[in-house]
Amino acid sequence: EKQGFRHYMLKEIHEQPRAIRDTMLGAGVVEDDVRFDGLDLLGSDLGACARIVMLACGTSFHAALIGRSLIEGLARIPVEVDIASEFRYRDPIVRSTDLALAITQSGETADTIAALKEAKQRGAQTLAICNVLGASISRVADKVLYTHAGPEISVASTKAFTTQLTMMVLLAINLGRRTGHLAADRARALIDGLQDLPAHIDNLLAASAAIRIVARRHQGARDCLFLGRGLCYPVALEGALKLKEISYIHAEGHASGEMKHGPIALVDNTMPVVVLAQRGPGYGKVLSNLEEVRARGGKIIAVATLGDHTIGDLADDLILVPDVAGELQPILASIPLQLLAYHFADLKGTDVDQPRNLAKSVTVE
Ligand code: F6R
Repeated sequence: EKQGFRHYMLKEIHEQPRAIRDTMLGAGVVEDDVRFDGLDLLGSDLGACARIVMLACGTSFHAALIGRSLIEGLARIPVEVDIASEFRYRDPIVRSTDLALAITQSGETADTIAALKEAKQRGAQTLAICNVLGASISRVADKVLYTHAGPEISVASTKAFTTQLTMMVLLAINLGRRTGHLAADRARALIDGLQDLPAHIDNLLAASAAIRIVARRHQGARDCLFLGRGLCYPVALEGALKLKEISYIHAEGHASGEMKHGPIALVDNTMPVVVLAQRGPGYGKVLSNLEEVRARGGKIIAVATLGDHTIGDLADDLILVPDVAGELQPILASIPLQLLAYHFADLKGTDVDQPRNLAKSVTVE
């Protein structure tokens, strides 16, 4: 069943090129547009939506955070993101022109279902992004968009996350084309970029052995920081969640710019700091954040863009990812972080697929 892989998690990490391809196939992607079958988000189906409120937990919440920037950036529709377990206990403001969007791999997460029900009761239109056909959430949401990751057995979510991110890009393109903020040529370039992702991911997966060496070098670490900016800030949060849940190493994700407001006090020469430093608008700032960490002795593991010849001098370990559009960087940056968490845990000998205290779907609130 594990098809020769030691763990389901590793198998599922390797299934991502296929999972992303299938998610695109299921979405009605054409040359310069995404036409979700039977779903006209800004038309008659769900009304003209003035605002999107995303509701999710855990890894799916991280996908929502990335989705917010993508949709606001490409479609200029205001988006709010809430942790599902917080949303309904704070008397949220919901209007009939709002679209509540639940993101849930299993479709069974009690908090997410309850939050979507709450939004529906308060008059919002509802949509869910889910990976399991016929899951409970599909009985609450007006409409469902499916990711096609296939069954995810490992408790730690990997392929479900990157297919959620793929769906976020597809949704942002769909909405951007309908609000008129996304030009056809830009949409076409993004779709071409999405189509190239599976091949890029195959190349990243080939670096698994090299990432195991990085994990081995930092094997004794008790704590680890993950830093990112912009679209890669939630990737840092996700990298930290993945590491802590399967290796039990204490890990925190932060927006790089927040380091100087507190977390940098943690840095010493025993602390690995994973820095997401792909090229883009925030690159210069990330480099200076990285220098601050380095000046305090932190051990830097940098995830940078292929062809970056500057960063090598500043980092202790370097993981290179292909140069892609900023909107697609979170998907590629996630792959080495999944592998890093996996190898840390496997070297430590934890139960990778069934980490202590965790369940695959959390059906209690
Ligand atoms: C982490 C993980 C969890 C889930 C969360 C929500 O690896 O898997 O954080 O993401 O429990 O689950 P879904 O997406 O099924 O609602």
